Amino acid sequence: RGLVRPGGLWTSLDVVQRTGSTNTDLAGSGGDEGAVLVAEEQSAGRGRLDRTWTAPPRSGLFFSVRLTPGPGVPAGRWGWLPLLAGVATATALSRAAGVDTALKWPNDLLVTVDGAERKTGGILAERAGDSVVVGIGLNVSLRADELPVPAAGSLALAGAKVLDRDPLLRAVLRSLEEWYESWRAAGGDPAGCRLQEAYTAGCATLGRSVRAELPGGRELVGEAVAVDGDGRLVLATADGVQEPVGAGDIVHLRP
Ligand code: BTN
Repeated sequence: RGLVRPGGLWTSLDVVQRTGSTNTDLAGSGGDEGAVLVAEEQSAGRGRLDRTWTAPPRSGLFFSVRLTPGPGVPAGRWGWLPLLAGVATATALSRAAGVDTALKWPNDLLVTVDGAERKTGGILAERAGDSVVVGIGLNVSLRADELPVPAAGSLALAGAKVLDRDPLLRAVLRSLEEWYESWRAAGGDPAGCRLQEAYTAGCATLGRSVRAELPGGRELVGEAVAVDGDGRLVLATADGVQEPVGAGDIVHLRP
């Protein structure tokens, strides 16, 4: 209703009762940009860094979209897509559900429950040919005893004023369309469409002390001071060096 419209980004919206993973389904199906696939339940939901994504049926939003940036956006900038999706989702949730949503770099969605930051959503972007499948998972109505892990949260626990999944999905897709179209129009330059600025403003990791696990067992501890033009998190270490870490590295916030 209204989302799939002529000239708009979203070309189809399918809802399935149950599947393994909407990311896997969309990545394997080929086809046009703008396909949206929503599942009421996933039996093999996947997260970043080979993690799993589990949630009770109908307790949240589990969906994927296919984006095909095209030759106007150099492939080196496609890495911004998951960060863009994070900004778009956080903005939409703050607006539509009245819940302050922050980003833990690179794209965990955090809400505050009983004074503590809890992960209430995540984003998994995967390259499929000349497309990128962006999957978004959000805990919406979960009660405390339904959380997959104790450190998780949900919009309900954060006091959201809207818990109907339909309006939330619409708000997220609208916001995603807006951000994506302006990013593409800017040739993928994150500064040109104010994405880097919006990301920086919404990122709860900045200003915090973090520990990064780098390849080869190396560890890096420092203050997160910036997100650079490639979407990497820049750490300032105690010896005054600034080092960027990439999305493949595991970052922990230190107390
Ligand atoms: C993460 O936090 O590491 C990312 C989680 C992404 C979960 C969503 S749910 C819809 C889509 N399908 C999947 O299998 N994963 C993403």
